[in-house]
Amino acid sequence: MEFIGAKTLETNRLELKVPTMKEQYDLWQILKQENINKWYMPTPERFHGDREAFQKSLNDWEKQEKYYQMKIDMLNENSNMFTWSIFIKDGPVIGQITVQPQSYSPNCPEIRDIGWFIAPDYQGKGYAYEAAEAILKYMFYEVEIEEIKTSAAEINKSSWNLMEKLGFERLGEDVSTYKDENGEFLPSFTYILTRDKYLNKRKR
Ligand SMILES: CC(C)(COP(=O)(O)OP(=O)(O)OC[C@H]1O[C@@H](n2cnc3c(N)ncnc32)[C@H](O)[C@@H]1OP(=O)(O)O)[C@@H](O)C(=O)NCCC(=O)NCCS
Repeated sequence: MEFIGAKTLETNRLELKVPTMKEQYDLWQILKQENINKWYMPTPERFHGDREAFQKSLNDWEKQEKYYQMKIDMLNENSNMFTWSIFIKDGPVIGQITVQPQSYSPNCPEIRDIGWFIAPDYQGKGYAYEAAEAILKYMFYEVEIEEIKTSAAEINKSSWNLMEKLGFERLGEDVSTYKDENGEFLPSFTYILTRDKYLNKRKR
């Protein structure tokens, strides 16, 4: 594996940029929306916390700005972190993709998890697919990781549908860390995409 960090990637309609503080305020405006953060962040539903207090703190840019700055510093200092801000070419930032080491195997950087979000107004237009395709190409060909293993709640069809469109294989079902409004854990699907499978698919 090559520890080279992210670099700017271009697709037909998008520019995938190494994150900077400049666009973090706009990303925060997207991420503070409950229908985005509930799937993307360690939210109270996942850790027995208080959603109201969480949302209050999330709505406070002065507090959040410090956290966003820390994240940018970490990305700048660590070539093992891969995060992109997704921009429409000559347009606004609309989302983010990360390809981070698995939390259960931090000493195995070549096995990764993937996470994504796109602003609601820009969903359903193929932007996540377009961005993820370019990022997978970079991660498997240039960074040379071995596999991506990830999961999505079964009711979050837009996310696992995207995994299937990208060639991920469903491994099975699991209990997710997400809870429904009654506090019950939601079932999730786990998915995998190995380097071999990815390279073979592209050869055909
Ligand atoms: C999951 C998520 C990132 C998907 O983003 P998206 O940009 O809407 O995904 P895409 O547009 O690439 O693909 C979705 C649909 O768009 C449509 N689409 C694809 N290309 C298109 C195009 N060029 N023009 C118009 N529509 C298109 C397709 O109908 C596709 O669905 P299909 O494969 O069933 O046909 C987004 O729903 C999201 O941010 N969700 C909240 C956060 C989240 O759940 N994160 C993941 C946690 S596991």
